Amino acid sequence: MKFETLTVHAGGGRDRTTFDVAPPIHLSTTFEHGPAAERPGGHIYIRESNPTQDQLAEALAAIEGAEGALVFASGLAAGAAYLQAMPPGSHVLFPDDVYYGFRHIADEFLPRWSMTASTVDMSDLARVAAATTPATRLIWAETPSNPLMKIADLAGLAEIARRSGAKLVVDGTFATPALQRPLDLGADAVLHSTTKYLGGHSDVQGGALVFRKRDDTFEKAEEVRYILGAVAAPFNSWLVLRGLRTLACRMERHSANALALATALEAHPAVEAVHFPGLPSHPGHAIARRQMSAFGGMLSVRVRGGRDGALRAASRMKLFVNATSLGGTESLLEHRASSEGAGSPTPPNLLRVSVGLEHADDLIEDFRQALA
Ligand SMILES: Cc1ncc(COP(=O)(O)O)c(C=O)c1O
Repeated sequence: MKFETLTVHAGGGRDRTTFDVAPPIHLSTTFEHGPAAERPGGHIYIRESNPTQDQLAEALAAIEGAEGALVFASGLAAGAAYLQAMPPGSHVLFPDDVYYGFRHIADEFLPRWSMTASTVDMSDLARVAAATTPATRLIWAETPSNPLMKIADLAGLAEIARRSGAKLVVDGTFATPALQRPLDLGADAVLHSTTKYLGGHSDVQGGALVFRKRDDTFEKAEEVRYILGAVAAPFNSWLVLRGLRTLACRMERHSANALALATALEAHPAVEAVHFPGLPSHPGHAIARRQMSAFGGMLSVRVRGGRDGALRAASRMKLFVNATSLGGTESLLEHRASSEGAGSPTPPNLLRVSVGLEHADDLIEDFRQALA
């Protein structure tokens, strides 16, 4: 089945007693079992599993062409579970502009879990190969990256990971499975913050790990989720499943709008640079063309005039909302260094933009008046 068809139907087994077309939400925290804890319905307690959560996991595995998926309370919880599934003593190689929550985990938590981490420019395969050590068990890629929109060559990274005996996990939050399929390119797992495009409406928090194989790491991550408890709630799972149904057409419009906006901004005299992999000037454009079917709805703009120039533009926006997060129907804009706080490596004149589903002309006009 084609991707669009799968997103509409995957995980949608119908209840043959009620014949609902839309799935029900199973809120029960506990499930009747046999006297020796036999599970006639397959479930026993909500922290371990529940039917609505399973339906979302089944849908995500189907659309990524994976053997299994686990859904979590947030994207950060999903990523933390993958890291906690690694053996003590592991070295993890992160991108130098990894999402700041994972940078925090690398700095503050991995040492407590007897693991080490280092960072590298993931867009440079030679540097990645040189940065692996005999202890490297995991290469962590994020492409496009947040917020610099760097592109990592996934097939190349998968080859390095294979040679090093390491896993490759890809944070595919910006691209979504609609535009990029890391498992087909050799990755072991894909991470999604389902809070973003998969939910798609800025009204639900969640995360997912999608595994090429139901291997040992899958089992360990499932154990982490069950025992540490960062499991996706039934209502949240249901909302993400509903979001998934429209993912393919939303990503088409997000991508078209972002390309139109990026092209207009690149020609604007008040703009120093636009980071968007769909622009031929982007250093990762050729790789992005190869591994993405479109370039997504995220871009970053470096405004002339430094931090003040960026904040001035942000304060003059009429349509774009100054807010963090991304992937909803409405366009959002964020002075990323302010959100990341002290020690942020993000350039001070950078505005991160989540391009929504409005008409591109209105979005371009809003930037024009703000930059005037
Ligand atoms: C690329 C990326 N990965 C992971 C996360 C974390 O997801 P969550 O906020 O759902 O924990 C985010 C959040 O912004 C993100 O942008």
